[in-house]
Amino acid sequence: MRAFLAVAVVGLVCSVLAADKDKADGERPKIFKRLIPADVLRDFPGMCFASTRCATIEPTQSWDLTPFCGRSTCVRAEQDNRLLELVEDCGPLPKSNPKCKLSDKTNKTAPFPACCPVFDCEPGVKLEYPDIPAPPSSTAAPAKPKA
Ligand SMILES: *[C@@H]1O[C@H](CO)[C@@H](O)[C@H](O)[C@H]1NC(C)=O
Repeated sequence: MRAFLAVAVVGLVCSVLAADKDKADGERPKIFKRLIPADVLRDFPGMCFASTRCATIEPTQSWDLTPFCGRSTCVRAEQDNRLLELVEDCGPLPKSNPKCKLSDKTNKTAPFPACCPVFDCEPGVKLEYPDIPAPPSSTAAPAKPKA
């Protein structure tokens, strides 16, 4: 069952990432996605609870995570009908680089993903991003080594 869920999660994330491919933008960090169990209120089963909005959200609907720069989508897992929250944010900040600075174009109050930081670098300089951390072990635990 856990293996099934992991496959479903990978499939979902891949299809979402594929949908994003056409808007590649070298300056911005890639949008970073992860799935977490949704908050659900006892009196509103079948809906995700958006704590930043203090509102319930139906599956497939998204909401902005203001004051954080991000967006969440309520997702129902096909295998077991569990409600999941697909969280998208700007990902890890790049490694600091004296030849790059935060651009004036950065607008932290804009809706996601326009609120993500934008960096201006000297010509030919590329920012390095830390390796994307592994997904949380609760949703995609690697198989335990056999003893
Ligand atoms: C930032 O984004 C908000 C929301 O879209 C907009 O109202 C505001 O004018 C923007 N500020 C700047 C400096 O672009």
